[in-house]
Formats: sequence, structure tokens, C-alpha cells
Amino acid sequence: MPPEPKRPLRLGVNIDHVATLRNARGSPYPEPVRAARLAREAGADIITMHLREDRRHIRDIDVESVARETDIPVNLEMAATPEMVAIALRLKPYACCIVPERRQEVTTEGGLDVAGLHNHLAPMIDELKRAGIRVALFIDPDPRQIEASAALNVPDVELHTGTYCDATLEGDAARTQLLLADLRAGAKIAAGLGLEVHAGHGLTYENVGAVAAIPEIVELQIGHFLVGESVFIGFAPAIRHMRATMDRARIGS
Ligand code: PXP
Repeated sequence: MPPEPKRPLRLGVNIDHVATLRNARGSPYPEPVRAARLAREAGADIITMHLREDRRHIRDIDVESVARETDIPVNLEMAATPEMVAIALRLKPYACCIVPERRQEVTTEGGLDVAGLHNHLAPMIDELKRAGIRVALFIDPDPRQIEASAALNVPDVELHTGTYCDATLEGDAARTQLLLADLRAGAKIAAGLGLEVHAGHGLTYENVGAVAAIPEIVELQIGHFLVGESVFIGFAPAIRHMRATMDRARIGS
């Protein structure tokens, strides 16, 4: 198993959309495993892949390649299904983040209803934890969902930043501040309950700083923006710039 990432604010680079680009033409390139190695060199602590039920971007072979051919810690985003749990138990990634999944959605929309799914999630979480895999639940910064996550004894939660990020893109300053306040409050509640706090979805150079500055948050998960930005400046420079932006915000400079 790869070593645990050690930085105070870790960066998980999500490479799903490298696979989206590959799949658009049915070519063997660009290769997600190459992106994973490059991301690591550029400052990623973790490589994240979402193996969706319909395999629309990342495929089983991609997760296998990164898990078996590199020593980079892998975070496998997955739906709470027996198929995905079996894959995780076979590949033993460093971490799994359980996300809600609907076939019709363009991307993960909203957090997991942990409160409503307690009995469904409990045995899967136990199995993953018994195999030595860290488990995170992807949730909205809603106190009810945070408390329900703590009740399931997961080590980590990932707070959904998508709604906040959408407000920043729409230029709605008042809503941005309200949603940021929810993230700050949620991070505090989660950390107070002993959960390690991660955050992600929709983060860009412009909106990452306010999230990186929340002291309880120790890991950010970022993908789509970085792959888009790499069209203009390259994948490694985009990651380095993101890394520098979040690190600067974290130390308050
Ligand atoms: N975190 C989770 C749980 C996600 O599902 C995603 C998108 O796959 C991300 C983070 C990364 O979001 P984005 O690609 O918008 O940076």
C-alpha cells in the first residue's frame, strides 16, 4: 500500500476528464496513468478517479493501472453498490469516497443522504475499513448529514463545494458568502465530531482560496477545472498554480 500523504493541506487531483477526452475519440490517448504520474510530480498528494456505474470516463483498467503501476495514493470515488465495494476490496486504494450517483446526471449533484441511508451504508463502510481503506462520505455541509456520518464511524467526510462554486461563477456575492459560511460551519462541526474534513467539486483558481483558508479542511479534491486549464497552459503548470494558490490562501498571505 502506498504511504499516507503527509502535507497539512493535501491536493487530490481528479483525472476523470483526462479519460473523458480519451473516450471522446475512442483513442488510447491521453492516458490517465500518464496524467496521474505527471500530477504527482506537479504537487498532487493523491490521485482521484470516479469509476461510475456507466464507465463514462474512468474505466476499470485505469484504476488498475494507477493502483498497480504507480505508488501514488489513490482515492476511488464510488457509488455505494456491491460491485464497487468488490472492486475496492480487490484494488485496495488508499481511500474510497462514497458519492451519490444517478445515471442521468452530468456530474455528482448534491451530497449523499447519509442520514437516510444509514443501514445501507453501514455494512459497506465496515467492509472497506476492515480492508484498511480510509472511507470518506461526500456530503453537503449540513449538520444533519455530518452527524449521520459521524454516527457511521467513518474517518473522513468530503464537503460538497459545488453550490458555493456555482455562486462564485454566477458572480452572486451575497449567496457566495452565505454558502461559504455554511462550509465554514460544517467544517467546524465535522472536526468537532472527530472527522477529518475534505472538500471539493467545482473549485477553480478564483474560488479555491476561501475554502483552502478554512483551517479544519485538510484535503481538497479538484479535477474538471485543472483538465480544462491544461488545454491553455499544460496539466503540470495548472496543478502547480493551483497548489501555490491554495497553499498561499492557507497560510493567509
Ligand atoms: N469530489 C467529488 C466527490 C466529486 O464527485 C468530484 C467530481 O468528480 C470532485 C470532487 C471534483 O470536482 P471537479 O471535477 O469539479 O473539480
